[in-house]
Amino acid sequence: MGTYRTHHCSELRPEHAGQRATLAGWVATKRDHHGVIFIDLRDRDGVTQVVFRPEQNPEAAKLSHGLRSEDVISVSGVVETRSEATVNPNLATGRIELVADALTILNKSEVPPFPLDDPSVNEDLRLQYRYLDLRTPTMHANLRLRHKVTKAVRDYFDSQGFFEIETPILSNPTPEGARDFLVPSRLHPGDFYALPQAPQQYKQLLQVGGLEKYFQIAKCFRDEDLRADRQPEFTQIDVEASFVGQEDIIALCEGMLRRIWKDAQGIEIPEKFPRMTYREAMDRYGSDKPDIRFGLELVDLTQDFLSSDFKVFRGIAESGGVIRALNAKGAAPLLSREQLKKWEEWAKSEFRAKGLAYIKWAPGGEWDSPIVKFFGEAEKKAIVEKLNFAEGDIVFFGADKRDAASEVLGRVRLRVAEVLGLIKAAGDRLAFLWVVDFPLLAYLPEEHCWTAVHHPFTRPNADDVPKMERGEYEDLRAVAYDVVLNGIELGGGSIRIHERDLQAKMFAALGIGPEEQQRKFGHILKAFSFGAPPHGGIALGLDRLVMLMAQADSIREVMAFPKNNRGMDLMSGAPLEVEPKSLRDLQIAVTKRA
Ligand code: AMO
Ligand code: AMP
Repeated sequence: MGTYRTHHCSELRPEHAGQRATLAGWVATKRDHHGVIFIDLRDRDGVTQVVFRPEQNPEAAKLSHGLRSEDVISVSGVVETRSEATVNPNLATGRIELVADALTILNKSEVPPFPLDDPSVNEDLRLQYRYLDLRTPTMHANLRLRHKVTKAVRDYFDSQGFFEIETPILSNPTPEGARDFLVPSRLHPGDFYALPQAPQQYKQLLQVGGLEKYFQIAKCFRDEDLRADRQPEFTQIDVEASFVGQEDIIALCEGMLRRIWKDAQGIEIPEKFPRMTYREAMDRYGSDKPDIRFGLELVDLTQDFLSSDFKVFRGIAESGGVIRALNAKGAAPLLSREQLKKWEEWAKSEFRAKGLAYIKWAPGGEWDSPIVKFFGEAEKKAIVEKLNFAEGDIVFFGADKRDAASEVLGRVRLRVAEVLGLIKAAGDRLAFLWVVDFPLLAYLPEEHCWTAVHHPFTRPNADDVPKMERGEYEDLRAVAYDVVLNGIELGGGSIRIHERDLQAKMFAALGIGPEEQQRKFGHILKAFSFGAPPHGGIALGLDRLVMLMAQADSIREVMAFPKNNRGMDLMSGAPLEVEPKSLRDLQIAVTKRA
């Protein structure tokens, strides 16, 4: 099979007994049993046990004594079946071993800075030596899965008549809601390219260009705060098509996800996913990406507190806010008063909650609560009936503006699910969901302006266009949809505006005046004046998708060379200072260094 080997370390089986074989790879472990040396030899595909017996092959055995972990070797010998007692059922090759008679040490390794595949190793250390970390079977499996997923994506779109088309990395800014990474231009001092946050404008311009069906495994760049499911540089499965509506894109995307799970993991997922409007998702689950693997739904109690003696809640209910509650069924024995106090601090500091009132009903106990003394019989009755409140439960309350109250309880809901073990109990269940009818615009009180909930190219719901044209921006719906899996936003898309005038009105709604429109988006507006077809699309986070399939905790586990949570490549040290000459060429002066 090549210069260094006849087989991979995953291939040999009892039927090869008696044959000669040559393997190549890394020394994973070495054991010395009274002078007989056992090596676990690892390559990309698996592990094979190699035995050096001094009485049979003294020279090779002697050489094997000097082997250390991670040395690279090529070894030849005869395949032997193992005795029943020494079979390793955990290894695909566990019924055989290679009895070595020739050993070539191809390269020596220093002692690795950490034991490979020890799950407790500090992540920064793994990232600093990523090339070693990549040798672990887990990373191999994750990257193999990622390859299978991208292959399935390409096969699927090819079968549907889509072209894979690359779009520029050095591009102009596209507003997707994050900060841009900028690249200075040497040829145009003082001017900058922006790295694409998404290929949004280009994929729409491809539709104006009559390409009709486009997809791309696209690198995207966003300078934003990082989390477990966010990286500054990530990959989207990006799609756009002409002469389509929302139903076409949803069906296309369901088909793609079915193909991915089937080809990459042999798993059948549903043909159609359930749907929920944004409004329903927020009201019932306090999230625009609800995890529907468990219930714990929010309940509205606004009416019940309109005449309450508890002034805080009544005040909020009277001034147009809402009182929402969540029954953490059976959680009372699991959360102490001190823990509940900590939850309240967490809700206040992380989500700007005004408070997190609760009633805890310990088994055999009274209602324990900082606020229940203010409640009349009517409120108590409503709580018991509407929330099915019983001994052993804790009810949490959120009182605030509609979505603010729900969002806090939405977070509490996820923590409660964790405490109750509901997420674990869901096992490997896959709960797909479409969230539809997103709002078009959201008001930013601090900046006194409206912003696009999805992006400025998203089409308003036809029924809401007259309102938008009158300058009434409250409660406009967009033809936008997100696909959610187990509470994580996998992807989002929309049907786009394809008419020049409507696009200009949308920019105006966002406070972008005619001059700025021309400067930033003149090319798009111009393109739309030359017969742009109706079009729409979607983009899915490839890293998130593979993370969920691999049941990994972070997208870093499914990327070969990720940044850490401070945006650094710990292996190379990037970002780094550059030579003064490079800065001079760019006519850039750095005024302050961190
Ligand atoms: P959106 O901004 O919703 O839409 O992005 C689509 C999907 O990309 C993934 N994603 C990320 N993954 C890792 N790290 C990040 N920093 C990150 N940011 C986003 C998410 C998300 O659902 N142009 C539009 C799509 C369209 O309208 O067609 C867009 O980019 O999984
Ligand atoms: P206070 O009167 O501010 O001390 O609040 C009494 C209790 O009500 C505390 O447990 C607060 O957490 C809770 N609380 C106050 N405001 C709200 C609110 N808007 N939503 C939920 N709980 C609240």
